Amino acid sequence: MTQFTKRVFSGIQPSGKIHLGNYLGAIQKFVKLQEDSSFENIYCVVDMHAITVKQDPKTLRARTVELTATYLAAGLDPSKSIIFNQSRVAAHVELGWIFNCVARLGWMNRMTQFKDKAGKNSENVSLGLLAYPSLMAADILLYNATHVPVGDDQKQHLELCRDIAQKFNNDYANEIKELGFGDQFFCMTEPLINFGNKPVRVMSLRDGTKKMSSSAESDMTRINMNDDRDLLAKKLKKAKTDPEALPSETAGLEGRPEARNLVSIFAALDDTDSQQVLDQFGGQQFREFKGALIDLAVAKICPIGDEINRLIKDEAHIDQVLKDGAERARALAAPLMQDVKRIVGFMV
Ligand code: TRP
Repeated sequence: MTQFTKRVFSGIQPSGKIHLGNYLGAIQKFVKLQEDSSFENIYCVVDMHAITVKQDPKTLRARTVELTATYLAAGLDPSKSIIFNQSRVAAHVELGWIFNCVARLGWMNRMTQFKDKAGKNSENVSLGLLAYPSLMAADILLYNATHVPVGDDQKQHLELCRDIAQKFNNDYANEIKELGFGDQFFCMTEPLINFGNKPVRVMSLRDGTKKMSSSAESDMTRINMNDDRDLLAKKLKKAKTDPEALPSETAGLEGRPEARNLVSIFAALDDTDSQQVLDQFGGQQFREFKGALIDLAVAKICPIGDEINRLIKDEAHIDQVLKDGAERARALAAPLMQDVKRIVGFMV
């Protein structure tokens, strides 16, 4: 079996405000992985994915700066991780095109995220939205990343990434062998879905059955990483609850999505688990619990928010970080891209 370097790749789209769900579900995990020296880490701002749906160009640019600032404020360190914006490394699209020709139309049509986003409008969405998972596979396999930390909503895309890798390895098996790459050119990437803490799914503050999302209409449904202290407190104070006191066992959260959400946010911010939170707060009314939650959230989130706001003002610095990262990413990607072209039969 071919041996692959342990390498992590992940990306977030700069298509909305960065909220607590992005932080607890993804960015916090990136920071933990960065501290594990057995991995090389690559974190991308996937601006080319963002334009699969319409983006205002000025806003896209501002969101790219803001997401990069959030990476840095949360603890990603350019001296330990490669941090860059996708569009600066052209090989993502080169490999993405080749994967468009490996992947089957039926695979793309089966993606639940595509079906959800396209809805009844599937004739009128961009072709890029359909091909999106193939570009995502290229993001990952351009570096032969062995591990990808993502939320569970991306699991299907990760499976598709493995299908593409497998089909490429099979379709070009002879060339791969002839050129001396052994039996496997692309690795079978593992998703890291439950890495770190317990899996954290942060839900809307107004409806515990819906994911917290940057596209939800009301800003009161989410906590943005750079909300100021008053706004953060106000959102949590107004967060939907139910009339019961908190249970003392996690089983008692069954059928109480809003209670479950606030308890699991507390647990994630405090680096414990829901049972430990209930050991402390079981039997109390929400008013008291929310007070403690607000204190905790302000202490954990607002320093990051302050740092984001400070960094955003220095766009030249952010741009330099992204440029340096892109240069390193390009250097890593270039030899692999050359090999792929040779395998496929392009003259290089
Ligand atoms: N599709 C991911 C999302 O919407 C973003 C993404 C793009 C990504 N390319 C990636 C995540 C590669 C992990 C690895 O959340």
